[in-house]
Amino acid sequence: MLLKKNNMRRPIIVGNWKMNNGPTEARAFFDKFIELKSEYEKNGKEIEVDWAIAAPYISMISLMDEDDAKYIPLAAQNVNENKSGAYTGEISIPMLQEFGVEYVIIGHSERREMYNETNASVNAKVLAVTKTLDSEDDDYIIPIVAFGETEAEFESDRTLEVIETQLKECLVGLNPEHMKEVVLAYEPIWAIGTGKTATPDQAQKVIKASREVIAEMYGDEIAKEVRIQYGGSMKPENVKDLMKQPDIDGGLVGGASLDPESFFQLLTYNK
Ligand code: PGA
Repeated sequence: MLLKKNNMRRPIIVGNWKMNNGPTEARAFFDKFIELKSEYEKNGKEIEVDWAIAAPYISMISLMDEDDAKYIPLAAQNVNENKSGAYTGEISIPMLQEFGVEYVIIGHSERREMYNETNASVNAKVLAVTKTLDSEDDDYIIPIVAFGETEAEFESDRTLEVIETQLKECLVGLNPEHMKEVVLAYEPIWAIGTGKTATPDQAQKVIKASREVIAEMYGDEIAKEVRIQYGGSMKPENVKDLMKQPDIDGGLVGGASLDPESFFQLLTYNK
């Protein structure tokens, strides 16, 4: 039952709405986005990347519709590794599965900085989420594990050292078959929401080095299959140049995913 989604590094672009777009705004987004998508499909074209929207939990329902042609793949922005219990404010993996959520972002820098998430807590979540990959039903969830250096670390040329530690600690102890399915998201913190994008060369260099860390941990074959996104001010104007890089397999997009037109342009960047 493995090899779920990963189709030889098919590009994957995920919108991260963060704490934006409540239920009403999410439905307005849905209506416009579906209009753009069906228009596009009427012309015989289709979105050729894997994609999803990481909406606030409470807005997910607004992105659902009984009509299969209006299906929007969902991602969560966080998850708790415990099955159920006294964890006020948290959402569990079975709850996401029941709702049909396909991906979950784990260890976003905002959660690390503001909610004390650590490499160890990210690892616990990744281990718990990847267990769903053994499910015989189609209710597996793919983790999108975010990592990246701060501006100070970047300025002092410590990027590669920092990301190596993050990856080693966040991804330790996984079943290698599960590791193949994990999506990684390299997000230099100084590029998030700042309008400052890493240059395609910079992003490529760090993402290539990240793949080498995975190779060291899990072997070359698995490292070659793992999808690694870039995140940090990705937008329609820079997506093509970033996606041209040999090791960049997609994007984790904040600001530019809030608007249906710009998100749709990102998903169809290769046209
Ligand atoms: P941004 O956010 O695209 O607004 O920089 C990216 C992210 O935080 O995932």
